[in-house]
Amino acid sequence: MSPPATPTDDPGLALHHVGVRFGGLVALDDVSLRVPPGRVVGVIGPNGAGKTTLFNVVCGFVRPSGGSLTLDGRPFRPRPHRLTRLGIGRTLQGVGLFPGLTVLENVTAGASHAARAGFAAALFGLPGSDRDERRLRAEALALLAELGIDRHAAAAPATLPYPVRKRVALARALIARPRLLLLDEPAGGLGADDVAELADLVRALPQRADGCAVLLVEHHMDLVMSVCHELVVLDFGRVIAAGPPERIRDDPRVAEAYLGADVPADAGGTP
Ligand SMILES: Nc1ncnc2c1ncn2[C@@H]1O[C@H](COP(=O)(O)OP(=O)(O)OP(=O)(O)O)[C@@H](O)[C@H]1O
Ligand SMILES: [Mg+2]
Repeated sequence: MSPPATPTDDPGLALHHVGVRFGGLVALDDVSLRVPPGRVVGVIGPNGAGKTTLFNVVCGFVRPSGGSLTLDGRPFRPRPHRLTRLGIGRTLQGVGLFPGLTVLENVTAGASHAARAGFAAALFGLPGSDRDERRLRAEALALLAELGIDRHAAAAPATLPYPVRKRVALARALIARPRLLLLDEPAGGLGADDVAELADLVRALPQRADGCAVLLVEHHMDLVMSVCHELVVLDFGRVIAAGPPERIRDDPRVAEAYLGADVPADAGGTP
């Protein structure tokens, strides 16, 4: 990756002319976008547009073949295992909880390295760690309560309905107090009521005590339109439109991209 053409002091995450190739296939082509602090930025586009690829670039699962990323203006080369330390949380498409742990344990497992060190000490019965453990558990329980699922704290994830498990995954990402949260299709598999509640949760993220920017990759039109400050529309790996939702909704290029493609049944309507 090359550094951005001009140095930047932009706060938050930025992609600069990012390209990704898989063999001969161009999955992302010259994609630039910004996720400033306290903003919810949505990435939408028809099937195969490159949304998951973009998400994977930011998580460090896919290395760009061109362009660069910055975090607070500094060069950023994402690595999956370093995200939490950098204040970046994520939930993946699907759920991905640890099946052998309770809900509460799954959430504490998402805590930052430092908090977890205290928790690990507690697990092994080392002295001086009880307070850390209690604090972490209390924080996890408070988060579960905030998300309306604290009554499931002791349950095994497999015994819970899908929407509850998705919330547990969100709590696990939030306990590290991320300043940037990456969400890949959080509405996938949810019914209308759960999507409405998810929208309330996502809208509230920037107002949390520590503030939080959100990069939301999502098919569900109603959700992105109702929670995002900015939208970036991908089609065949290129940004075809970007701006506030009300402008994107009326953009004929966006309608054309969606109408010419396969919009999933749960997409919540075309723009
Ligand atoms: N690991 C890979 N190897 C080869 N091609 C890939 C790989 N990952 C994605 N692609 C291709 O890159 C393009 C973009 O795929 P991507 O999964 O990013 O799209 P998407 O917008 O997330 O689609 P969907 O809405 O169906 O989830 C597609 O043509 C896809 O087939
Ligand atoms: Mg995808």
